[in-house]
Amino acid sequence: MTARHRNVKGTRDLLWPETHLWSRVEATARQVFHAYGYGEIRTPMLEETDLFIRAVGQETDIVGKEMYSFEDRKGRSLTLRPESTAGVGRAFVQHGMEGLGLPVKLFYIGPHFRYERPQRGRYREFHQIGAELIGDPGPTSDAELILMLVRFLEALGFLDLTVLVNSVGDGSSRAAYREALRSFLEPHRTGLGEDSRRRLETNPLRILDTKDPAERDLLANAPRLDEFLSAESRAHFGDFRTALGACGVTHRLEPRLVRGLDYYALTVFEISAAGLGAQDALVGGGRYDGLLAELGGPDLPAIGFAIGEDRLLEAMTPPPNWPVPRPPEVHVIGIGVPGVESLRLAEELRNADRAPGTGGPAVTSELSERSLKATLRWAASQGRRWAVLVGEAELAAGTVTVKDLRTGEQRSVPRGEASRSLVRKESDS
Ligand code: HAM
Repeated sequence: MTARHRNVKGTRDLLWPETHLWSRVEATARQVFHAYGYGEIRTPMLEETDLFIRAVGQETDIVGKEMYSFEDRKGRSLTLRPESTAGVGRAFVQHGMEGLGLPVKLFYIGPHFRYERPQRGRYREFHQIGAELIGDPGPTSDAELILMLVRFLEALGFLDLTVLVNSVGDGSSRAAYREALRSFLEPHRTGLGEDSRRRLETNPLRILDTKDPAERDLLANAPRLDEFLSAESRAHFGDFRTALGACGVTHRLEPRLVRGLDYYALTVFEISAAGLGAQDALVGGGRYDGLLAELGGPDLPAIGFAIGEDRLLEAMTPPPNWPVPRPPEVHVIGIGVPGVESLRLAEELRNADRAPGTGGPAVTSELSERSLKATLRWAASQGRRWAVLVGEAELAAGTVTVKDLRTGEQRSVPRGEASRSLVRKESDS
């Protein structure tokens, strides 16, 4: 049969049991981030288009080529969020969150949308796990944030991480560099593509994001941003690297790392993991000290990161202590009694008091009208260990019949003791 409808290109259905791994990854993120004092924030998937233009930047690939933007029925331009720093910043300003006491530490987990060419590790709907630390300018905050990130990735079994760091400098450093880059590229203007020619006027730094091989060759000889860092920017970067090293995080300077979003200032970083393509970062982040003021809020410094959760799961080997939950072990079957009797019995078995640590079984009950033989065959084929049968006679006597679906043995037990006889012994598995 061919399905009449298929998922939209670049999106995916995540199916059980893979969803179990996603839940475990997210639970680990919550656990690790809570330990560093972060609280979860959930912002809408839809924001005003103007927010992303202002925050991420008109000349970025994200805003220029990748946004899912549309007019709603009242003619407002809305966009499916391509990233969350803008939305978190908007929410921070809107709710006056500086009143919570600084720094404010927030994390988020959820879907994001970019119109990119789909391939392994790159989707149009993808998921990010991100964190933002708002209100502290210090290089020690940068180090703490990256330390938390590395700890999280280590908890998932990533030991072969490459942490690349750079500084894009403060506003004055970038202004000086912008002019130097413009002067360098101006004589080559005719060799540049249309986008880069326009960016030469509007935002030369974004030319560094080009994927055009000829432009990349040209840029190999371009002046480097680190040559233009102000003394303050240089000191901030030095202190950050010292703090990161003191935390035991091995990292490498990557002078050409500028990141493709306009809001960055000073520290930027990316992390890649063995198993992902070289240019596919697992994590991207950095400082964005001017953004909150740009959004009409207080002039507070901030730093954050976002992990590509899809890539994370593709590169990860699930830890051995993450078994997929077993399928239900018990199937309750009513014989000649109203269906509600098997529902009630199943509920009793799920909730029965048991000795600490033994854990109740997962229980289903038969809801169809098929024959007992067919039901038992189905239950065994689904991996159930026991069938618990209840008929008129059992109801009257206060008993149930427990049938071991592996051996075929069955016995009558008092209803109140049934759950205890269903505990799986370690020797069973
Ligand atoms: P970004 O580098 O654009 O940064 O995205 C972060 C991560 O999201 C990437 O490293 C990648 O793993 C994942 N990602 C991006 N696009 C896709 C895609 N199409 N398919 C699959 N994964 C993708 C940001 O989004 C910033 N908001 C990070 C940040 C937070 N900076 C400061 N705070």
